Amino acid sequence: MTGNTPLNTVDLRVGGGLPLVLLHGFPLDLRMWATCAAALAPGIRAIGVDLPGAGHSDLDPGAAPALEHSAERVHDTLRGLGVGNAIVVGLSMGGYVALALADLYPGFVAGLGLVDTKSTADGTEALANRHRIAGTVERDQTVDAVLGMPAALLSARSLAERRTLVPTLEAWIRAQSPAGVAWVQRAMAARPDRTAVLEKYEAPVAVVVGVEDKLAPLDQAEHMAAAATRGGGDVTLTAVPDAGHMAPVEDPAAVAGALSLLHERVCAA
Ligand code: MLT
Repeated sequence: MTGNTPLNTVDLRVGGGLPLVLLHGFPLDLRMWATCAAALAPGIRAIGVDLPGAGHSDLDPGAAPALEHSAERVHDTLRGLGVGNAIVVGLSMGGYVALALADLYPGFVAGLGLVDTKSTADGTEALANRHRIAGTVERDQTVDAVLGMPAALLSARSLAERRTLVPTLEAWIRAQSPAGVAWVQRAMAARPDRTAVLEKYEAPVAVVVGVEDKLAPLDQAEHMAAAATRGGGDVTLTAVPDAGHMAPVEDPAAVAGALSLLHERVCAA
Protein backbone atom coordinates (compact mmCIF):
# COMPACT_ATOMS: atom_id res chain seq x y z
CA MET A 1 0.00 0.00 0.00
CA THR A 2 1.39 3.38 -0.99
CA GLY A 3 -0.98 6.00 0.45
CA ASN A 4 -2.34 6.93 -2.99
CA THR A 5 -5.75 8.63 -3.16
CA PRO A 6 -8.42 5.94 -3.65
CA LEU A 7 -10.02 5.69 -7.08
CA ASN A 8 -13.75 6.02 -7.66
CA THR A 9 -15.46 2.62 -7.66
CA VAL A 10 -19.08 1.57 -8.13
CA ASP A 11 -20.60 -1.83 -7.44
CA LEU A 12 -22.11 -2.25 -10.91
CA ARG A 13 -23.50 -5.60 -9.81
CA VAL A 14 -24.22 -6.60 -6.24
CA GLY A 15 -23.16 -10.10 -5.30
CA GLY A 16 -20.88 -12.13 -3.07
CA GLY A 17 -17.65 -14.10 -3.17
CA LEU A 18 -14.75 -13.40 -5.49
CA PRO A 19 -15.52 -10.14 -7.36
CA LEU A 20 -14.95 -9.23 -10.98
CA VAL A 21 -13.13 -5.92 -11.24
CA LEU A 22 -14.01 -4.12 -14.47
CA LEU A 23 -11.48 -1.68 -15.97
CA HIS A 24 -12.62 0.61 -18.76
CA GLY A 25 -11.07 1.65 -22.06
CA PHE A 26 -9.82 5.04 -23.26
CA PRO A 27 -11.13 7.77 -23.29
CA LEU A 28 -14.05 6.45 -21.25
CA ASP A 29 -14.93 5.59 -17.66
CA LEU A 30 -16.59 2.84 -15.67
CA ARG A 31 -20.03 3.55 -17.16
CA MET A 32 -19.05 1.58 -20.26
CA TRP A 33 -19.30 -1.66 -18.22
CA ALA A 34 -22.76 -1.07 -16.66
CA THR A 35 -24.92 -2.98 -19.17
CA CYS A 36 -22.50 -5.88 -19.41
CA ALA A 37 -22.24 -6.14 -15.60
CA ALA A 38 -26.03 -6.31 -15.36
CA ALA A 39 -26.01 -9.33 -17.70
CA LEU A 40 -23.56 -11.41 -15.60
CA ALA A 41 -24.74 -14.68 -14.08
CA PRO A 42 -26.71 -14.20 -10.84
CA GLY A 43 -24.67 -13.73 -7.66
CA ILE A 44 -21.46 -12.36 -9.24
CA ARG A 45 -20.26 -9.09 -7.69
CA ALA A 46 -18.83 -6.65 -10.25
CA ILE A 47 -16.87 -3.58 -9.21
CA GLY A 48 -16.33 -0.85 -11.81
CA VAL A 49 -13.28 1.35 -11.32
CA ASP A 50 -12.57 4.78 -12.81
CA LEU A 51 -8.87 4.65 -13.68
CA PRO A 52 -6.66 7.65 -12.75
CA GLY A 53 -7.62 10.77 -14.68
CA ALA A 54 -10.93 9.28 -15.91
CA GLY A 55 -14.52 9.63 -14.69
CA HIS A 56 -14.52 10.63 -11.03
CA SER A 57 -10.94 9.55 -10.28
CA ASP A 58 -8.35 12.28 -9.90
CA LEU A 59 -4.86 12.26 -11.30
CA ASP A 60 -2.12 12.19 -8.72
CA PRO A 61 -0.30 15.46 -9.55
CA GLY A 62 3.08 13.92 -8.72
CA ALA A 63 2.67 10.78 -10.81
CA ALA A 64 4.60 10.47 -14.07
CA PRO A 65 2.42 8.93 -16.81
CA ALA A 66 2.69 5.16 -16.36
CA LEU A 67 0.12 2.36 -16.33
CA GLU A 68 2.06 0.81 -13.44
CA HIS A 69 0.86 3.78 -11.37
CA SER A 70 -2.73 3.05 -12.50
CA ALA A 71 -2.32 -0.62 -11.54
CA GLU A 72 -0.91 0.33 -8.15
CA ARG A 73 -3.87 2.62 -7.46
CA VAL A 74 -6.39 -0.03 -8.53
CA HIS A 75 -4.68 -2.52 -6.22
CA ASP A 76 -4.55 -0.11 -3.26
CA THR A 77 -8.16 1.02 -3.78
CA LEU A 78 -9.46 -2.53 -3.81
CA ARG A 79 -7.38 -3.57 -0.82
CA GLY A 80 -8.83 -0.51 0.93
CA LEU A 81 -12.31 -1.89 0.19
CA GLY A 82 -11.31 -5.19 1.79
CA VAL A 83 -10.87 -7.04 -1.52
CA GLY A 84 -7.92 -9.41 -1.08
CA ASN A 85 -8.02 -10.81 -4.60
CA ALA A 86 -10.23 -10.55 -7.66
CA ILE A 87 -10.78 -11.54 -11.25
CA VAL A 88 -9.50 -8.53 -13.17
CA VAL A 89 -11.16 -7.73 -16.49
CA GLY A 90 -10.07 -4.91 -18.77
CA LEU A 91 -11.21 -3.50 -22.09
CA SER A 92 -8.34 -2.25 -24.27
CA MET A 93 -6.52 0.26 -22.01
CA GLY A 94 -8.17 -1.52 -19.07
CA GLY A 95 -6.57 -4.72 -20.36
CA TYR A 96 -3.14 -3.05 -20.40
CA VAL A 97 -3.73 -2.14 -16.73
CA ALA A 98 -4.99 -5.66 -15.96
CA LEU A 99 -1.74 -7.08 -17.39
CA ALA A 100 0.29 -4.57 -15.35
CA LEU A 101 -1.59 -5.73 -12.24
CA ALA A 102 -0.86 -9.38 -13.05
CA ASP A 103 2.79 -8.39 -13.50
CA LEU A 104 3.09 -6.36 -10.26
CA TYR A 105 0.63 -8.22 -8.01
CA PRO A 106 0.26 -11.76 -9.39
CA GLY A 107 -1.24 -13.05 -6.11
CA PHE A 108 -4.03 -10.46 -6.32
CA VAL A 109 -5.21 -11.46 -9.80
CA ALA A 110 -7.19 -14.71 -9.44
CA GLY A 111 -8.21 -14.69 -13.10
CA LEU A 112 -7.81 -12.41 -16.11
CA GLY A 113 -10.38 -11.20 -18.63
CA LEU A 114 -8.75 -9.51 -21.63
CA VAL A 115 -11.36 -7.86 -23.82
CA ASP A 116 -10.57 -6.07 -27.12
CA THR A 117 -7.02 -5.51 -25.97
CA LYS A 118 -3.44 -6.57 -26.69
CA SER A 119 -0.30 -7.51 -24.78
CA THR A 120 2.10 -5.93 -27.27
CA ALA A 121 3.61 -2.42 -27.06
CA ASP A 122 3.00 0.41 -29.54
CA GLY A 123 4.87 0.80 -32.82
CA THR A 124 6.60 4.05 -33.82
CA GLU A 125 3.58 5.52 -35.62
CA ALA A 126 1.16 4.85 -32.74
CA LEU A 127 3.63 6.35 -30.27
CA ALA A 128 3.97 9.54 -32.30
CA ASN A 129 0.19 9.75 -32.62
CA ARG A 130 -0.31 9.42 -28.86
CA HIS A 131 2.17 12.20 -28.10
CA ARG A 132 0.58 14.40 -30.78
CA ILE A 133 -2.90 13.89 -29.29
CA ALA A 134 -1.64 14.50 -25.73
CA GLY A 135 -0.06 17.79 -26.86
CA THR A 136 -3.19 18.91 -28.75
CA VAL A 137 -5.53 18.13 -25.87
CA GLU A 138 -3.32 20.01 -23.43
CA ARG A 139 -2.87 22.97 -25.74
CA ASP A 140 -6.60 23.27 -26.57
CA GLN A 141 -7.83 22.30 -23.10
CA THR A 142 -10.65 20.29 -24.70
CA VAL A 143 -11.09 16.63 -25.57
CA ASP A 144 -12.12 17.49 -29.16
CA ALA A 145 -9.09 15.65 -30.55
CA VAL A 146 -10.55 12.30 -29.40
CA LEU A 147 -14.25 13.03 -30.01
CA GLY A 148 -14.12 11.44 -33.45
CA MET A 149 -13.18 8.02 -32.04
CA PRO A 150 -16.62 6.33 -31.66
CA ALA A 151 -17.13 5.58 -35.36
CA ALA A 152 -13.82 3.68 -35.43
CA LEU A 153 -14.71 1.76 -32.28
CA LEU A 154 -17.92 0.15 -33.50
CA SER A 155 -18.82 -2.63 -35.95
CA ALA A 156 -20.73 -1.98 -39.17
CA ARG A 157 -23.85 -3.46 -37.61
CA SER A 158 -23.55 -1.38 -34.44
CA LEU A 159 -23.22 1.77 -36.55
CA ALA A 160 -26.23 0.84 -38.69
CA GLU A 161 -28.59 -0.61 -36.09
CA ARG A 162 -27.54 0.53 -32.61
CA ARG A 163 -28.00 4.20 -33.32
CA THR A 164 -27.75 5.38 -29.71
CA LEU A 165 -24.20 4.05 -29.28
CA VAL A 166 -22.30 6.85 -31.06
CA PRO A 167 -24.01 9.66 -29.09
CA THR A 168 -23.61 7.70 -25.87
CA LEU A 169 -19.89 7.17 -26.44
CA GLU A 170 -19.49 10.84 -27.42
CA ALA A 171 -21.21 11.94 -24.20
CA TRP A 172 -18.88 9.72 -22.15
CA ILE A 173 -15.83 11.13 -23.96
CA ARG A 174 -16.98 14.76 -23.50
CA ALA A 175 -17.17 14.13 -19.75
CA GLN A 176 -13.41 13.35 -19.54
CA SER A 177 -10.82 15.94 -18.53
CA PRO A 178 -8.17 17.11 -21.02
CA ALA A 179 -5.46 16.63 -18.37
CA GLY A 180 -6.60 13.04 -17.79
CA VAL A 181 -6.74 12.26 -21.51
CA ALA A 182 -3.22 13.62 -22.04
CA TRP A 183 -1.78 11.75 -19.03
CA VAL A 184 -3.35 8.47 -20.10
CA GLN A 185 -2.12 8.82 -23.70
CA ARG A 186 1.42 9.25 -22.43
CA ALA A 187 1.00 6.39 -19.93
CA MET A 188 -0.17 4.04 -22.71
CA ALA A 189 2.74 5.15 -24.90
CA ALA A 190 5.17 4.18 -22.13
CA ARG A 191 3.81 0.66 -21.58
CA PRO A 192 6.06 -2.30 -22.35
CA ASP A 193 5.19 -5.50 -24.20
CA ARG A 194 3.60 -7.73 -21.53
CA THR A 195 3.24 -10.95 -23.53
CA ALA A 196 5.76 -12.56 -21.16
CA VAL A 197 3.41 -11.89 -18.23
CA LEU A 198 0.83 -14.14 -19.87
CA GLU A 199 3.47 -16.79 -20.52
CA LYS A 200 4.01 -17.01 -16.74
CA TYR A 201 0.38 -16.62 -15.69
CA GLU A 202 -1.17 -19.84 -14.39
CA ALA A 203 -4.74 -18.88 -13.37
CA PRO A 204 -7.68 -18.97 -15.84
CA VAL A 205 -7.73 -16.42 -18.66
CA ALA A 206 -10.64 -15.38 -20.90
CA VAL A 207 -9.70 -13.52 -24.08
CA VAL A 208 -12.67 -11.84 -25.78
CA VAL A 209 -12.62 -9.88 -29.04
CA GLY A 210 -15.14 -8.28 -31.36
CA VAL A 211 -14.68 -9.89 -34.78
CA GLU A 212 -14.63 -6.40 -36.35
CA ASP A 213 -12.25 -4.84 -33.80
CA LYS A 214 -9.84 -2.71 -35.86
CA LEU A 215 -7.78 -1.39 -32.92
CA ALA A 216 -7.04 -4.67 -31.13
CA PRO A 217 -7.92 -7.21 -33.82
CA LEU A 218 -8.39 -10.96 -33.69
CA ASP A 219 -4.70 -11.72 -34.38
CA GLN A 220 -3.78 -9.82 -31.18
CA ALA A 221 -6.37 -11.85 -29.25
CA GLU A 222 -4.92 -15.07 -30.70
CA HIS A 223 -1.42 -13.91 -29.76
CA MET A 224 -2.52 -13.40 -26.11
CA ALA A 225 -4.42 -16.70 -25.98
CA ALA A 226 -1.38 -18.56 -27.36
CA ALA A 227 0.92 -16.88 -24.80
CA ALA A 228 -1.40 -17.74 -21.90
CA THR A 229 -1.67 -21.32 -23.17
CA ARG A 230 2.15 -21.56 -23.12
CA GLY A 231 1.84 -20.45 -19.47
CA GLY A 232 -0.06 -23.69 -18.88
CA GLY A 233 -3.27 -22.00 -17.78
CA ASP A 234 -6.89 -22.69 -18.64
CA VAL A 235 -7.54 -20.30 -21.55
CA THR A 236 -10.60 -19.50 -23.65
CA LEU A 237 -10.88 -17.26 -26.71
CA THR A 238 -14.31 -15.87 -27.58
CA ALA A 239 -14.80 -13.98 -30.86
CA VAL A 240 -18.01 -11.92 -30.76
CA PRO A 241 -19.70 -11.57 -34.17
CA ASP A 242 -20.97 -8.14 -35.29
CA ALA A 243 -18.98 -6.36 -32.57
CA GLY A 244 -16.02 -4.02 -32.92
CA HIS A 245 -13.65 -2.59 -30.30
CA MET A 246 -16.46 -2.05 -27.77
CA ALA A 247 -17.77 -5.61 -27.52
CA PRO A 248 -19.11 -5.21 -23.93
CA VAL A 249 -21.19 -2.23 -25.08
CA GLU A 250 -22.16 -3.64 -28.49
CA ASP A 251 -23.07 -7.14 -27.31
CA PRO A 252 -23.17 -7.06 -23.51
CA ALA A 253 -24.80 -10.50 -23.20
CA ALA A 254 -22.07 -12.27 -25.22
CA VAL A 255 -19.25 -10.70 -23.18
CA ALA A 256 -21.11 -11.25 -19.89
CA GLY A 257 -21.48 -14.92 -20.86
CA ALA A 258 -17.71 -15.32 -21.38
CA LEU A 259 -16.95 -13.47 -18.12
CA SER A 260 -19.52 -15.47 -16.12
CA LEU A 261 -17.86 -18.64 -17.40
CA LEU A 262 -14.44 -17.23 -16.39
CA HIS A 263 -15.81 -16.63 -12.88
CA GLU A 264 -17.08 -20.22 -12.75
CA ARG A 265 -13.70 -21.58 -13.95
CA VAL A 266 -11.74 -19.55 -11.40
CA CYS A 267 -14.05 -20.60 -8.57
CA ALA A 268 -13.81 -24.26 -9.64
CA ALA A 269 -9.99 -24.23 -9.95
C1 MLT B 1 -8.94 1.91 -25.71
O1 MLT B 1 -10.02 1.57 -26.19
O2 MLT B 1 -8.73 1.86 -24.49
C2 MLT B 1 -7.86 2.41 -26.64
O3 MLT B 1 -8.11 2.00 -27.94
C3 MLT B 1 -6.52 1.93 -26.18
C4 MLT B 1 -5.41 2.45 -27.01
O4 MLT B 1 -5.45 3.62 -27.45
O5 MLT B 1 -4.44 1.69 -27.22
